[in-house]
Parts: sequence; C-alpha cells; structure tokens
Amino acid sequence: MKRLLLVVLAVLISVPVVYAASVGGGNIVYKVKHSGDVTFSHDSHVTDRNFKCDDCHPSIFAMKRDAEKKRKMSDMRSKKACGICHNGKNAFDVSSNCYICHKK
Ligand code: HEC
Ligand code: HEC
Ligand code: HEC
Repeated sequence: MKRLLLVVLAVLISVPVVYAASVGGGNIVYKVKHSGDVTFSHDSHVTDRNFKCDDCHPSIFAMKRDAEKKRKMSDMRSKKACGICHNGKNAFDVSSNCYICHKK
C-alpha cells in the first residue's frame, strides 16, 4: 500500500515537469538583422513567472506565430506587444536592456 502510494506520488510529481518542457507555444524566435535574434520563451514566462495563457492570449498576442508580421521597437516603447509588460515597471524596459532580448 505504501509502495503504491509512492508510485502514484512519483507519477504526480513528474507530470508537471514533463509538461513544463514544452509549455504553451515553446520558444518563439524572431529574426532581427543587425540587432540580433530574439527568443521569447514560454517556459520562462509561464513556468518561471507564473503567467497564465490568458494574460497574453488573445488580448496581446494571437495564439499563432505569423513570421510575416514584423513588430517595431517604437510600438513596443509605446506599450504594445512585449512593451505592455517590458515597461520598466512590470519587467525590464524595452528602451534599454537590448542585449537581454537580442542575441547575436
Ligand atoms: C507572456 C506572454 C505569453 C504567455 C503567458 C503565453 N504566451 Fe503563448 N505566445 C506568446 C507570444 C509572444 C507568441 C508568439 C505570437 C506572436 O509573435 O504574435 C505566442 C505563441 C503561442 C502559440 C503559437 C506558437 C506557434 O509557433 O505558432 C501557442 C500555441 C501558444 N502561444 C500557446 C500558449 C499557451 C497554451 C499558454 C499558456 C500555457 C501561453 N501560450 C502563454 C506569448 C505568451
Ligand atoms: C523585451 C525584449 C526586447 C528588448 C528589451 C528590445 N527588443 Fe528589439 N525587438 C524585440 C522583438 C520581439 C522584436 C521583433 C521583431 C519581429 O516582430 O520580427 C524586436 C525588433 C527590433 C528591431 C527591428 C524592428 C525595428 O523596430 O526596427 C530592432 C532594430 C530592435 N529590435 C532593436 C532593439 C534595441 C536597439 C533595443 C534596446 C534599446 C531593443 N531592441 C530592445 C524584443 C526586444
Ligand atoms: C505579461 C507580461 C509580459 C509580456 C507580454 C512579455 N514579457 Fe518578457 N518577461 C516578463 C517578466 C515579468 C519577466 C521577468 C523580468 C524581470 O524580472 O524584469 C520577463 C522576462 C523576459 C526575458 C528574460 C529572460 C528570460 O527568458 O527569463 C526575456 C528575454 C523576455 N522576457 C522577452 C520577452 C519578449 C521578447 C516578449 C514579447 C514577444 C515578452 N517578453 C513579453 C513579462 C512579460
């Protein structure tokens, strides 16, 4: 009985871990010339920062990546897309910290 309980516990504990490995839409890569590509990680926002799907979907982002749709930093600085949170209050500001998002 005790052993069965342990097995059940082990399964319960491992399920969220497996789930977290590919949470939401996974890693989204934005190709940006010169400044460097940006990777948005669902894992780091959903698992590490506890955001819920509907904190972002569908109000800020559609649940579908459209690689043709290019966003501008000027829009993000006026509090759109990533800039809704990355405003220097809720998360690091898009007016600086370029290198945290853009990787060469
Ligand atoms: C902090 C904001 C944020 C949260 C929270 C979030 N997402 Fe996303 N999600 C995004 C962004 C950004 C994109 C890319 C869409 C874009 O660039 O317009 C995306 C895209 C997606 C995609 C499409 C992926 C693709 O390749 O087309 C799916 C599916 C998705 N999200 C599911 C989820 C689910 C399920 C959750 C909750 C577990 C979740 N997301 C939580 C920001 C978020
Ligand atoms: C919170 C993350 C984040 C930060 C911080 C950030 N960016 Fe971006 N940047 C992005 C994303 C996402 C795109 C998206 C592009 C797309 O839709 O293809 C982008 C696009 C761009 C582009 C191409 C579009 C445009 O507006 O011309 C340039 C250039 C750019 N960033 C420069 C910068 C510089 C310089 C900084 C610092 C002052 C910076 N970024 C800070 C996430 C960020
Ligand atoms: C719903 C709010 C929200 C939105 C929308 C959002 N972020 Fe974040 N993001 C956060 C918070 C909060 C942190 C933790 C940052 C801090 O401590 O300053 C964070 C951290 C990050 C980090 C730090 C490294 C990491 O992965 O842990 C990166 C890079 C990042 N975000 C990129 C983006 C990009 C790119 C977008 C848009 C496609 C975006 N974020 C949209 C809230 C958000």
